[in-house]
Formats: sequence, C-alpha cells, structure tokens
Amino acid sequence: MKIISATNYFDICEKTSNLVAKQLRQKPNSVLGLATGSTFLGVYEKLIQNKEIDFSQTRTINLDEYVGLDGEDKNSYRYFMERNLFSHINILPSNTFIPSGMAKDIKSECENYDKLIKNLGGIDLQLLGLGLNGHIGFNEPGDCFVANTHSVALQQSTRQANARFFGDIDKVPASAITVGIKTILQAKKVVLCVSGLQKAKILIQVLFGPILPNVQGSILQLHQNLIIIADKEALSLWEEGL
Ligand code: F6R
Repeated sequence: MKIISATNYFDICEKTSNLVAKQLRQKPNSVLGLATGSTFLGVYEKLIQNKEIDFSQTRTINLDEYVGLDGEDKNSYRYFMERNLFSHINILPSNTFIPSGMAKDIKSECENYDKLIKNLGGIDLQLLGLGLNGHIGFNEPGDCFVANTHSVALQQSTRQANARFFGDIDKVPASAITVGIKTILQAKKVVLCVSGLQKAKILIQVLFGPILPNVQGSILQLHQNLIIIADKEALSLWEEGL
C-alpha cells in the first residue's frame, strides 16, 4: 500500500484527479469505478476543469445506489453523478452505469450488475471514499464480507451521516444496492480518498488494524495496488505514530 499525504482536502482532489487523468491518458477506454459522497465533489470538479481529459471512450461503474430512488430524485446517486460529473464531460451516457434503485427485482438487478462489470473486463481504477463506520461502497459492518453486488440495510450511523442531504434522517432510504467486496478487490488499482479529523481513527483501523468484517475497509489491506490519498487531519493519528 502506498500512502500519499495531502496538505488538505483540495490537495486530495488535485492528486486524485491527476491519477484519473493519467489513467485515461494511458488507457482511454478504462473502466473507472466511481463513488459519490462529499469527498468526491471536489475531485469531480477538478476533473471537469481539466479540459485535456478525453472521456469519449471511458466507461464508468458506480459503486452504489439507494433502493427506492429513481435517477431524477435529487438524492439519488444517478442524479449526483449527472449533476457533478457526467453532464460536464464528454462521456457517452450509454457508457455510465449505476445500479437501478427502482428495479422491481433487486436480486436480478444485482446479478446483472455483476455480469455487466465482468463483460466490461473488470474495473481498471476504483475510487473509494471511507464511511465513518469503515464502510466502502455501502458494504456496512457485518457478519461477513459479502462478495458480489447485493442489497444492504443501511446502518443508523450511515443514514445519520447522509441525513444532511435529505433534511431528515427518516427520509434517508433504509437500504441500498452496493458493489461487493470481491469486485472492489478485483479492481486493478484502488484509490482510497479520506479527508478530515473525524475519519482519523477509522482510517488507522482500516489500514493497520485486524482485517475484520466489522471494519469492511480493512479488507483493502489485501489489495496489491492500493493507494491512499488522505489529508493531514485524516492521517493525524498515523503521523503521531499511534
Ligand atoms: C458513496 C460511497 C460511500 C462514501 C462514504 C464516504 O458512493 O460509496 O462509501 O464514499 O460514505 O462519504 P463522504 O465522502 O460523504 O464522507
């Protein structure tokens, strides 16, 4: 694992967008694994600003979507991606993939999403954020590491963390579809972006603690090509040598 210490959130965004730009220069038709959430707002802004990046052949696979929200809902992850990235770059809409939270049969939707990822040849570069409870995607703390795309009941802490977007925790959907741990681990390169003091403790557990389903992100220790881009605040406990 390679840890890149960024001076602040803006530096994380700069460094991450540079990695994505490099990936697309080397392989224009890369499959990018994308995440939503506050951490990536600035990353996507940087990608939009860099007019030299050509997304015309790029394929994207998003990690997750809320069950029960359609793509027009401003809290859906489809909406987030359209608004914060896709509508500003030269990507083909038909090359952007996000699970449908409105699928009648969620189980088949998950199975089809796994098939799709396989047919695209797997993920070349996976961007990940980190939940306060150590989740990656919406793989929540649980009894086992779930391999494939699946639906998951969101933990109260996750719903609380996302309540700011919905105005009220009761409006946050109770479940989501997420890509599973196996798919994340099969990505050729994984970039984990972490910002802020409130994530310092969980980041240490993820990177140096025992690999446990209770801290889903800890499985990333097994990935051969993992890059962590974190700011000084998120790395503060590491830098203190704890
Ligand atoms: C969202 C996702 C989540 C977030 C995580 C961090 O697609 O996969 O795992 O990356 O919850 O969210 P922020 O960046 O809002 O702290």
